[in-house]
Amino acid sequence: MKRTHTCGELSTKHLNEQVTLEGWVHSRRDHGGILFVDLRDRYGLTQVVFNPTNLTEEDYPKAESLRDEYVILVQGKVVPRLEGTENEKISTGEIELVAEHFEIQNIAQTPPFLVSEEGEISESLCLKYRFLDLRRPMVQNNFIQRHQIVRTIRNYLDDNRFLDIETPVLCRSTPEGARDYLIPSRTHPREFFALPQSPQLYKQCLMMAGMDRYYQVAKCFRDEDLRADRQPEFTQIDLEMSFVDEDDIFQLIEGLMKSVFANVLGKDLEIPFLRISYDDAMNRFGSDKPDMRFDMEISDLSKEVQDVDFRVFKQVIESGGAVKCIVAPDCAKYSSGEIDKLRKKAESFGANGLAWFKVTSEGAQSPIAKFFTSDQIEKIQKKSGASEGDLLLFVAGEKNMVHDVLGKLRLEMAERLGLIKDDLFVFAWVTDFPLLEWDEEASRYVAMHHPFTSPKECDQESWDANPQNLRARAYDIVLNGVEIGGGSIRIHKKEVQEKMFSFLGISTEEANDKFGFLLKALSFGAPPHGGIALGLDRLVMLLLGQRSLRDVIAFPKTQKASCLLSAAPSEVDDSQLKGLSLKFLDEE
Ligand code: AMO
Ligand code: AMP
Repeated sequence: MKRTHTCGELSTKHLNEQVTLEGWVHSRRDHGGILFVDLRDRYGLTQVVFNPTNLTEEDYPKAESLRDEYVILVQGKVVPRLEGTENEKISTGEIELVAEHFEIQNIAQTPPFLVSEEGEISESLCLKYRFLDLRRPMVQNNFIQRHQIVRTIRNYLDDNRFLDIETPVLCRSTPEGARDYLIPSRTHPREFFALPQSPQLYKQCLMMAGMDRYYQVAKCFRDEDLRADRQPEFTQIDLEMSFVDEDDIFQLIEGLMKSVFANVLGKDLEIPFLRISYDDAMNRFGSDKPDMRFDMEISDLSKEVQDVDFRVFKQVIESGGAVKCIVAPDCAKYSSGEIDKLRKKAESFGANGLAWFKVTSEGAQSPIAKFFTSDQIEKIQKKSGASEGDLLLFVAGEKNMVHDVLGKLRLEMAERLGLIKDDLFVFAWVTDFPLLEWDEEASRYVAMHHPFTSPKECDQESWDANPQNLRARAYDIVLNGVEIGGGSIRIHKKEVQEKMFSFLGISTEEANDKFGFLLKALSFGAPPHGGIALGLDRLVMLLLGQRSLRDVIAFPKTQKASCLLSAAPSEVDDSQLKGLSLKFLDEE
């Protein structure tokens, strides 16, 4: 005996039919001698009525023994619900199934939380009992939608001539900025594989192999400190194309997103996306992943305040720093207590303090107003666009710190003031990233994107003169202030790649040792190529309005990078260690 329908399928079309359902007891209600069970599977809920008049003498007591999460098979007749008892919220709400025969396929212990619970449940409990958590319809729905998103992306890339090619999971480490997960090799004692941080070099090799267009739904592994939008193991929609420039990649991805929005969310997405240079993003939004769903842009007041008599601003300007501000609309009404909380917030972001002005009908109100002439105040107001009733928040100091603090304060204020409309999706391309970044700790340049990213050709002559001014042919795609992807046009000439390595302090010997295969491939006719990787988990999280990657990854890791379900990582047997020629330092 097998089910004839799913629990989400029956309607008035099936009245009087004999059907069989299988599923879980979602909830049960005993109405004095008649038992109502909501039977659940992935497709929905169906109300089943256990009435002694329709069941054998042995079966009814068995029905009374049913508890939450028991798995049953039930056979019976589809009938209309009594008038007034229909449930509009569910697809099967007009009918019920009158049980005539049923079997208990499995019993269940009392679950640690109700699968029918729709509210928040402790995360550690959810992850430990993830198989139960995933039964919850609202959680399950995320995975149904994730599947639809991936399917749409696959179809779109297939239509665009991309080949799905798998690349190894046991690799040589590629430097992408994070720490590698290492796998000791049994057959090569003292040697290690690394799990891929991304398939970067393999996909470039595929272009050199003439594959023209590659994609992969690729698992990536990075041993990083975790946050809500970072998992140690995550999935990229990774792709690479030959004979393209930035615009080709932008158009492809814009089309891909449009297709996902149409097919999965039923929305018409406007393309092309906004484009903003890295410098503009930093100056205007204080972030390289600007949330452009709202304005509240940063204004640079360094010129306007350079002659002001206020010690803090004066010193900062003299030492080459900047004074910038944001305007919090309608916040002149804030009490000094509220403003002090903002100051503390700014300080927690790294500022030395927070200066402010209220714009009132009597002019600027602030303890520091006395240091400013009315002309200076007018200029500040004009430049920042502040009007009566607004609150100006100033941060002074080293430029990068000022951007960072005001960027975060901007997000904080938008949140407080409810400036971000629900259901708004604003994409932006961030372009013209610096090629190199100075790493204080290592006291050398590191690649801002990765070492295989092409510099902008026009800058190549100035490599030796001014490395920090070099721009990369790199781009990020940002959605609602979250970086959902990044890529670049790659270096396809061996000499340029060698030059790049030398800038990064990688000796010729080390380059040959670590990247000899790439350099070799570049010297056998490598086509111009470029690509991008989308963070699938982040994309799904945002599209489905979820707050954590854990909501959209079936078996995620905790903040401490462990799996509560399987209790991984775990210790291993001594014999396993021995087989790998490994010994712990503290056991020597
Ligand atoms: P990048 O390192 O920018 O580029 O990664 C691409 C995208 O992957 C997502 N992502 C993550 N998602 C969840 N958890 C993480 N720990 C995590 N780290 C990154 C982000 C990011 O934008 N090989 C290059 C791509 C290329 O040049 O084509 C790369 O991996 O959304
Ligand atoms: P002080 O003279 O240090 O008491 O500072 C006067 C005001 O300026 C206080 O409101 C401080 O929060 C603010 N302030 C101090 N340092 C900075 C800074 N670097 N940027 C912006 N405001 C500051």
